[in-house]
Amino acid sequence: PQDDRIARIVSTIRVIPNFPKPGIIFQDITTMLLDPKAFKDTIDLFVERYSEKGVSVVAGIEARGFIFGPPIALAIGAKFVPLRKPGKLPEDSTMYTGIFVASLESRLRCFMSVLATVFAWSLDILLTTERESTGEVISEEYSLEYGTDIMEMHVGAVEAGERAIIIDDLIATGGTLCAAIKLLEHVEAEVVECACVIELPELKGRERLGGKPLFVLIKSA
Ligand code: PRP
Repeated sequence: PQDDRIARIVSTIRVIPNFPKPGIIFQDITTMLLDPKAFKDTIDLFVERYSEKGVSVVAGIEARGFIFGPPIALAIGAKFVPLRKPGKLPEDSTMYTGIFVASLESRLRCFMSVLATVFAWSLDILLTTERESTGEVISEEYSLEYGTDIMEMHVGAVEAGERAIIIDDLIATGGTLCAAIKLLEHVEAEVVECACVIELPELKGRERLGGKPLFVLIKSA
């Protein structure tokens, strides 16, 4: 039997035909966020499912995975890892690439900051035997209806062997979740399950997840 909370959640989601393009029926979850009970019920349903599963990573997909992921992560005592659009995550090499494109004045500033960084590194190496890189970013390209997009993740955010769930508002063709799975598997995390509020089953996105389980609250036509 379906949980009573689901019908209420469904009633708060606004359905907008022909947005953002003709032919697309947009599922607008922002109206659900205006209803604190429906929003809380949504979070609770995920928390009930994942609280006893040894999950230490909740990876959220930009943008709407950033709305649902953090409250779930806090409730189950896991970390939240954002999977971002390209160029948004700072990475160790940014400072150096900047040197080649910058003006003379900023080149000088960059040079000074490189010197300061090298000094700090040397000191760090002297004081510790192993230095952890937190700024390395990995990317995964994936296909959209028209063209491609890229998703990025900080390598240092997740350790090999950690148990992760991936959360987003909606699965359509499955391309986005497929890229997210690849990023997490690249750092040898174990993707326990993908979780979405809404699935569009007609688009068969579930079949693109390479056998990974998918948990959804709502299946929409
Ligand atoms: C939507 C949705 C998912 C993705 C699913 O994001 O939030 O992330 O599409 O599509 P797929 O299963 O076909 O890959 P959108 O492209 O609207 O980006 P946004 O979240 O930045 O608005």
